[in-house]
Amino acid sequence: MTQATPREPRAGRAFLWGTATAAYQIEGAYNADGKGPSIWDTFTHTPGKTERGETGDVACDHYHRWEHDLDLMAEMGLRAYRFSLAWARILPQGRGAVNAAGLDFYDHLVDGLLARNIVPFVTLYHWDLPQVLQDKGGWVNRDTASSFQDYADVVTRRLGDRVKNWITLNEPFIAADHGHVSGEHAPGLHDYKLYFPVTHHLLLAHGLALQPIRENVSGAQVGIAFSLAEIQPATDRDEDIEAATRCEAYMNGAYLESTLRGRYPALITEQMPGDLIQSGDMATISGKTDLIGINYYMRLLAQAAPTAYGGFTIAPWPPGPRTEMGWEQYPAGLAYWVQRLATDFPDHDLYITENGAAFPDTLDDAHQVHDPQRVNYLREHTRAALTALATTDARLKGYFVWSFMDNFEWAYGVRPRFGLVYTDYATQARYIKESGRWYARLIEAGAPDDI
Ligand code: GCO
Repeated sequence: MTQATPREPRAGRAFLWGTATAAYQIEGAYNADGKGPSIWDTFTHTPGKTERGETGDVACDHYHRWEHDLDLMAEMGLRAYRFSLAWARILPQGRGAVNAAGLDFYDHLVDGLLARNIVPFVTLYHWDLPQVLQDKGGWVNRDTASSFQDYADVVTRRLGDRVKNWITLNEPFIAADHGHVSGEHAPGLHDYKLYFPVTHHLLLAHGLALQPIRENVSGAQVGIAFSLAEIQPATDRDEDIEAATRCEAYMNGAYLESTLRGRYPALITEQMPGDLIQSGDMATISGKTDLIGINYYMRLLAQAAPTAYGGFTIAPWPPGPRTEMGWEQYPAGLAYWVQRLATDFPDHDLYITENGAAFPDTLDDAHQVHDPQRVNYLREHTRAALTALATTDARLKGYFVWSFMDNFEWAYGVRPRFGLVYTDYATQARYIKESGRWYARLIEAGAPDDI
């Protein structure tokens, strides 16, 4: 019998289909077993910071329910799972004394994944800085970068024999901008001038962490998960085209160019205080990495705004399909990033470390969640990614749905549901959604249009 010609490019058997989460968004147990407070504990306990005053104190109670959650991952046939470590669970003071119970939790989690043939991808920093370090200035303080190096050393000494894939930072732009400029994220500061030292010290922390990761992890594959929106000018006016260039420098170039080419875009460097970049910093920041993480959700339309921070603002998208977050659905932007990074950085493996959508999911009486919008979203975006893979020599090695399960969506609380698994917060029961079953079939078939 002749092999049917695949209607769409398909991923090979080694392609890592996975899901992603973050510690603060799923673990709960915010003060259990010796864990210290993080800036997100402080932020969500501050009135007015989150929808309905919700916190991640309990979230999905993953800290206590992790074995059942791993069983669900195995039931879905996941090949990989990206999760983050809560720094303050391991080092309550940010550095120094290790909380054994915290490190043991992640040790058991890693063993549980490996026992289920699920490849662990560990994010060191997904925004939950120990409060003790924030009290000393946080990322505005250069010393925090060396605390991060100590933290990376502690965890890679313990987990490095079994975890080979390491993401140092999740979305440094979002951590810098939302945490220190817009203030919508922890630590909730509002000073655009902080964008520069926070960005630089986050990236310095990344660079410093490379040394213990290389020392403690044989065969380590390491990189950053960047928040990558495709930036386009809102119109073809010269001023909007220039605005898009500025937006690209602030949101993307400041992070990609510095870590992968060893220099910031001129637009960024020229605004940095003279003593911010110290001798050797750029060499540290651009230390060799192996992978590039693409966290993709949207394109952004930049328009000129001479008096605004950065000289641009973001224009509304044209009419079209939206997610519950109000984000435009734009799968072409994911293909754009795979192609662009394959061209610009051909020596790096690429992983789509986050892609997914929130929709207003409801649980029916039979504990089923019928979520065709998410199935369609995932079909469109995985098709775009695999088509880009087929038409370039991109070393695209994996795709992680955001998210494994509904979880605490930062300042929005638990209202937005991004999961392939429905979280019933009242009972903490989990139910695999229709999209989770679809994803399991995709993992088997390898091509979104074959299922
Ligand atoms: C991000 C974060 C995730 C979010 C997800 C949905 O990319 O912003 O990594 O923690 O929850 O993207 O907004």
